[in-house]
Amino acid sequence: MVNMSFEQKLAQMLELNKGKRIFQFEHQGQRYWLKQAEKLKGFMRVLKGNAQKALRREMCALQRLSRKHAAVPKMVCHDADFFVLEDSGVTIKDWLSKDISQDNMQQILNDSSKALAELHSMGLNHGRPALRDICWNNGQVTFIDFESKFGKSSEEQKKVRDLVLYIHSLYRSLGPQNEIVEQAIQQYRDAGGEWVWLQTQDFLRSWQWLYYVSFPFRNNGGRDSKPVYWVLRHFRYTV
Ligand SMILES: Nc1ncnc2c1ncn2[C@@H]1O[C@H](COP(=O)(O)OP(=O)(O)O)[C@@H](O)[C@H]1O
Ligand SMILES: [Mg+2]
Repeated sequence: MVNMSFEQKLAQMLELNKGKRIFQFEHQGQRYWLKQAEKLKGFMRVLKGNAQKALRREMCALQRLSRKHAAVPKMVCHDADFFVLEDSGVTIKDWLSKDISQDNMQQILNDSSKALAELHSMGLNHGRPALRDICWNNGQVTFIDFESKFGKSSEEQKKVRDLVLYIHSLYRSLGPQNEIVEQAIQQYRDAGGEWVWLQTQDFLRSWQWLYYVSFPFRNNGGRDSKPVYWVLRHFRYTV
């Protein structure tokens, strides 16, 4: 079919990608992402709860954030089992694995840090802003994959959690390249994030005993444990 309508294309894609969690397709020069409920087997179903509900919650989160003009992708259409988003470009994590200059890398990270500060300044939060869930396209930053659980913590605590996880993700991807990370975090602070940064420093004071515990693992621990030392170090020594 040469001139397929969007609905026809969608029906075809759904038929070809039954049960696939997420996939991309193109229609009339525009790229889209289609996300479906996770198909979980056995005990994982119990652990992860109802996948369809999680998808529905993510849809609600995206709609709510979009109404507030947050940097999220446009939802083109949705159904009970899936939703379709406009493409937001390459994720920060994928940008970092490309052969780009140090200056470009710094720019991308500065932009994403500023965008997180802006999201927080709007009274919003992401839930788990890891670099694989932030897209960058020509200076335009977009947040995807929103944490769908309803948390009981306050807005302030959610922002602190966002910042800890974001900085953890920076160190996880970059290793202890302190200068690049430090500059990116400074951008977050300068773009309206100073209050949250200070709150995070306060919050992590009670975790500083971990600083010594994590020291031996700072260079050769697991992928998630290595950054713990560097995150604590950042808040310990930066003023
Ligand atoms: N709108 C989008 N624009 C660009 N890439 C996307 C978009 N939506 C999803 N992706 C890509 O698909 C990956 C998985 O999507 P995500 O929503 O994070 O699913 P999951 O909940 O399974 O982690 C992302 O890390 C990103 O690479
Ligand atoms: Mg994700």
